[in-house]
Amino acid sequence: MPKVTYVDHDGTEHAIDVPVGENVMRGALYNNIEGIVGECGGALSCATCHCYVDEAWTGKVGGPATDEERELLEAAASEVKPTSRLSCQIEMSDELDGLVVRLPEAQY
Ligand code: FES
Repeated sequence: MPKVTYVDHDGTEHAIDVPVGENVMRGALYNNIEGIVGECGGALSCATCHCYVDEAWTGKVGGPATDEERELLEAAASEVKPTSRLSCQIEMSDELDGLVVRLPEAQY
């Protein structure tokens, strides 16, 4: 099963098995990773699943945020960066084994 490493704002790392087909937001929720809230359940309407994709992985997760993600991030998240993504929109595959995502200090 592919692994995702979630890195808390303070640098603490959590390496979690996330099934193929599951999204990165749910992988965090099901494993009690506190830096992801996922309030809307992945309906692309809350931005509380904001994460920063490690630069080595940005191409592999489908590139930067889509226009729809970017609009929501800019409207509802803080400290948006070029590597910002909504983790509910990143679906796990075997190719993403080893993915690293960093979590913001807070989700707004
Ligand atoms: Fe709401 Fe991702 S969980 S936008």
